[in-house]
Amino acid sequence: MAIIAMVSAKGSPGVSTAALACTLSWSRPTLLAECDPAGGDILAGYLSGLEIPPRGLLPLAVADLRGRAREEFPHQLVDLDAGDPGRRLVLPGITDPVQANTLRPTWERLATFFADLEHQDRGIDVIADCGRLTTSAAPWPLLHRADLILLVLRPATLRTISPALPAIAHLRRELTEHGRGPGALAMLTIGESTYPNRELEQRLQLPILASLPDDPRSAQVLSDGGRLRRNPELLRAAASIEPVASRTIAERRTRLSATAVPTEASNA
Ligand SMILES: Nc1ncnc2c1ncn2[C@@H]1O[C@H](COP(=O)(O)OP(=O)(O)OP(=O)(O)O)[C@@H](O)[C@H]1O
Ligand SMILES: [Mg+2]
Repeated sequence: MAIIAMVSAKGSPGVSTAALACTLSWSRPTLLAECDPAGGDILAGYLSGLEIPPRGLLPLAVADLRGRAREEFPHQLVDLDAGDPGRRLVLPGITDPVQANTLRPTWERLATFFADLEHQDRGIDVIADCGRLTTSAAPWPLLHRADLILLVLRPATLRTISPALPAIAHLRRELTEHGRGPGALAMLTIGESTYPNRELEQRLQLPILASLPDDPRSAQVLSDGGRLRRNPELLRAAASIEPVASRTIAERRTRLSATAVPTEASNA
């Protein structure tokens, strides 16, 4: 599948929870990359019961500057599934927002590194938690490169919906100018909506790829740690996003390759 980025416009609609729910429930090997410039959550949250030495995105970015990302990558991961090593991986995010400045010049190369993981032995898909777009340090090169960008939104009230409008306009502009067009954009809604889906899509001029239910008990475990109940609703719903995302990405790739202008190299 490749890179699936999740972002929000404002507030805390549940990006990190949704990204972790997908990582824990998808069938293909998946890497959750905590790319939120405000900092990662998982070591102090879902994994807070474990003693995990410092590791993650920042050391990987530094290794990448030295051309050693591939060798360093396995040492910067946390494996979430002892029963099936390599299937559910996490690259913990930065621990201080100041470190986002160090990451800034490395996003381009990191995006290429993440995109290449799809072509490794087991073929890893990357779910990138990119946090809120309102920050000045958003990982834009990664968003430009993403195969699917899910704007995570709680469509509970007009107040929670309206920040999505400028965010979508911003994303569209960025993807048109620097990416491969706004076709990678879609919404992931969380919880009950004030409007029927069709009306929300029309108002925001963006398709809803999927929705996750309100499931506070499971969400709290994913946020702060603890034991998940058996087969929770949130993970079942997250699992059902995988085939939709996979199909959407495949269709977009087909469209893009059909409209690609042949280069000299591809003519040779
Ligand atoms: N599907 C859900 N059902 C119920 N509660 C949820 C759900 N998703 C997230 N939450 C809760 O909402 C709060 C915010 O979630 P989360 O940290 O995932 O948001 P976020 O968008 O990543 O926020 P931030 O922008 O601050 O990183 C947490 O307390 C979490 O447990
Ligand atoms: Mg978050």
